[in-house]
Amino acid sequence: MDKNINIDHKLIEYIFSHSNNLHPVQKELIKYNESLGHIKRLQISILQANFLQFIIKSRKINNCLEVGTFTGYSTLSMALSLNKNGKILTIDKDKEKNIIAKNFFKKAKVLYKIKTETSNGNEALIKLIKNNKKYDLILIDADKENYISYFDKSLKLLNKNGLLIVDNILWKGEVTNIYSRDKLTQKIKMFNQHVKNSKINKYILPIGDGFYICWK
Ligand SMILES: C[S@@+](CC[C@H](N)C(=O)[O-])C[C@H]1O[C@@H](n2cnc3c(N)ncnc32)[C@H](O)[C@@H]1O
Repeated sequence: MDKNINIDHKLIEYIFSHSNNLHPVQKELIKYNESLGHIKRLQISILQANFLQFIIKSRKINNCLEVGTFTGYSTLSMALSLNKNGKILTIDKDKEKNIIAKNFFKKAKVLYKIKTETSNGNEALIKLIKNNKKYDLILIDADKENYISYFDKSLKLLNKNGLLIVDNILWKGEVTNIYSRDKLTQKIKMFNQHVKNSKINKYILPIGDGFYICWK
């Protein structure tokens, strides 16, 4: 067996206290999401956002695409790490949440780096493919039913050496539950098998609900 420690709440606090501080607007957005009740779980974890920030800074990425904005925590975190010329396009069908997200982007003074699109993920990706758009980093974090479709389309939108990152692929550990008949668990398992069968390079990073990290 591989050697990994269990990360409990105390360790999480320790990790945060020995890492870069969050931006004040990141803190505010986390508080806002907590006030939303159970849907706060839609936000990626702070550790996942920290990882995205590290990747963007260290690889000098400046062109990102995201499917699944929600209230904007992942978008904001990525935008804060992009240099001044960096850009991110984020897609979500939810018009109300888009207004909330944009207010946070404005507050953090990063709105100029972010283009939001309120539309269906598949339709938006088809349009981008038609327009020959390419990205250095693509984050997929939207409806699980469409993950395979988002993944296949994203491969066409990825620059050489670009990274394709997909969230929720461990599905709270349910992917190893052989008795689960839950529809979404089945969808995630099918998606993971699809990635496994594809020729792309891949690693699973077990932070948050699990990131699939893929590159050509
Ligand atoms: C898990 S949340 C995204 C969380 C966000 N990345 C964050 O860290 O805060 C998923 C989002 O996908 C959006 N979504 C669901 N189905 C969609 C679709 N067919 N097209 C576009 N967006 C969709 C939802 O409106 C929701 O805001």
